[in-house]
Amino acid sequence: MATHPPAEQVDAVILVGGQGTRLRPLTLSAPKPMLPTAGVPFLEHLLSRIRAAGMTHVVLGTSYKAQTFAEYFGDGSSFGLDIDYVVEEVPLGTGGAIRNVADRLRADTAMIFNGDILSGLDLTALLTTHRTVGADVTLHLVQVDDARAFGCVPTDPAGRVTAFLEKSEQPPTNQINAGCYVFERSVIEQIPAGRVVSVERETFPGLLAAGAVVAGHVDSSYWLDLGTPSAFVTGSADLVRGIAPTMALPGPVGESLVLDGADVHPGAAISGGTTIGRDTTVGEGAVVERSVVFDGARIGPGARVTSSVIGAGAHVAASAVVANAVIGDRVVVGENCELVGGIRVWPGVELPAGSVRFSADS
Ligand code: GTP
Repeated sequence: MATHPPAEQVDAVILVGGQGTRLRPLTLSAPKPMLPTAGVPFLEHLLSRIRAAGMTHVVLGTSYKAQTFAEYFGDGSSFGLDIDYVVEEVPLGTGGAIRNVADRLRADTAMIFNGDILSGLDLTALLTTHRTVGADVTLHLVQVDDARAFGCVPTDPAGRVTAFLEKSEQPPTNQINAGCYVFERSVIEQIPAGRVVSVERETFPGLLAAGAVVAGHVDSSYWLDLGTPSAFVTGSADLVRGIAPTMALPGPVGESLVLDGADVHPGAAISGGTTIGRDTTVGEGAVVERSVVFDGARIGPGARVTSSVIGAGAHVAASAVVANAVIGDRVVVGENCELVGGIRVWPGVELPAGSVRFSADS
């Protein structure tokens, strides 16, 4: 039986250069992978799983707000990793970003991650599939209940990908691309350099057309794309409650994660996987459910916050109701305001007491 190099000899590449437009206004101040999620930047959860799988060399493909990653993670040594940064002056798309890190790779095989996916995938099992099939590229595939909103990826009985299909009303399979791949380095080197390339739309179909071996690794463990506000809230709560796997949670798993310096009144109720950030205050009788409260925010007495993100330094005043909303940094939500259903408030805005806003948008 052939022996394969262990995961230690695989580079991890994480694509973190996107603008995260669907998460605005949160992503105006920080790129999506750096948003505080269950107490640490989202990327730290992914890095903890990469480290646990045995990979130590990580290359971050950055573009939007590139410097923020190095400021926090440095050379990676405090995280047990060796982190390299590659900056795209102009975003190159997912395929272009992968090509752009080729000269930093040290191994013949690389595991590539979208930097906004929360998953319980067994990374070693993905690598085993890749090597057992002898693939050029192996994709992590997940099965979704309704595949109509996604391009789908059918496989044959031997696990080889047969097509990359665009969205359709009657998808022939419920398998979709989960945003994590194993690539042979030789394949990465064949991606055109110096221009925008979409790995999904150009590289993968091109590989199939050229007869490359493209394998699918179907996995049914936890998987969530954190690209939208509602998914971000869900992902953070699932990390806090131990539903989504991480080795980076800065506290015990439970119904809430209250970080250092938070002043939570004993008469407040915090539940549903809520994170209360550092140096925050939560007043008497406030109810905070399934939400993410960033550092320095204040939730007034009797306020009710549900399935929402409260930005850094924001103030939700007494008896205000905030549900399914994104409240930007330093926003003031006046007393007795009601913000319900997909409302997004841009940083620094002050909503007078008693304002009412409803929206069907999510
Ligand atoms: P939206 O604007 O809300 O769609 O988010 P996004 O910009 O993150 O795009 P998307 O969710 O499609 O990106 C998937 C992953 O690829 C994310 O981790 C992005 O950071 C990353 N990504 C997307 N485009 C680029 C790019 O041009 N360069 C690099 N380095 N990464 C990218």
